Amino acid sequence: MLRLNNVSTFYGQIRALDQVSMEVKPGEIIALIGANGAGKTTLLNTACGILNPRSGQVYFEDKLVSDLNAEKIVQMGMGHVPERRQVFGTMSVMDNLLLGAYQRHDKEIKRDIEQTFELFPILQKRQKQAAGTMSGGEQQMLAIARGMMSRPKLLMLDEPSVGLAPLMVREIMRVIADLRQRGTTILLVEQNARAALGVADRGYVIETGHIVMQGTAKELVANEGVQKAYLGKGGRLQLSRCNVPNGVYACLTDPMIITCAECPNRNGK
Ligand SMILES: Nc1ncnc2c1ncn2[C@@H]1O[C@H](COP(=O)(O)OP(=O)(O)OP(=O)(O)O)[C@@H](O)[C@H]1O
Ligand SMILES: [Mg+2]
Repeated sequence: MLRLNNVSTFYGQIRALDQVSMEVKPGEIIALIGANGAGKTTLLNTACGILNPRSGQVYFEDKLVSDLNAEKIVQMGMGHVPERRQVFGTMSVMDNLLLGAYQRHDKEIKRDIEQTFELFPILQKRQKQAAGTMSGGEQQMLAIARGMMSRPKLLMLDEPSVGLAPLMVREIMRVIADLRQRGTTILLVEQNARAALGVADRGYVIETGHIVMQGTAKELVANEGVQKAYLGKGGRLQLSRCNVPNGVYACLTDPMIITCAECPNRNGK
């Protein structure tokens, strides 16, 4: 669905991405993990046309998009929830959601808002409230919900868990798994490798503009280098594939991370 081929992106003389290649296939949740300044945001911004690569190509659904602008790429079905939950603070929750649909001209916007409220019940309760008066976690929910209002085929999320308490992180990861189950492909950028690898199928590790490792979530979690650099505190994390038919979650034994509600191995017991 999304493919980057030897992409290099610069800020003036500074090379922030160096020959990055990666792929997100339809229906996948892909985690992109890396420390501060590694190039995660630059990669998302390059994929969605906010930045243009100096060399290399970006393909979305096999169409070359590296020379298109962000608006055009949104129209093609790529959604982007930027860093630091940028909601419009003085506007109501409902108006924020409607803004997410501003490029649409179909008659299903109302129905989509109803579906959004099913997925995020808290937003229904708060629909008339000014977005800026909600908690950080609620604002992040709204940012994701607004991103979904353009009906993206691929949703890219830039550090949705940052600054949130563990329970809220878990809730956000649950929503991400739910969105995928409803048919949206996800590229999840996170410093919180523990949470991201808990929900992802595969992942990439980025360091100073280079992809230094890639593999299934299970492989990455088992990797000593990843454990040392990114999973640090909290000891070893074990992942095993969910054995619920058509299950989409990795079944997790780490209490910090979501477990599938229907999973017989729930809570690692
Ligand atoms: N507008 C800019 N001008 C110059 N350099 C920039 C700009 N934005 C980012 N950089 C540099 O590019 C590199 C990658 O930054 P980027 O924001 O992509 O990292 P990140 O992985 O998203 O980090 P964080 O986890 O802190 O959000 C950093 O060295 C950063 O200083
Ligand atoms: Mg960033």
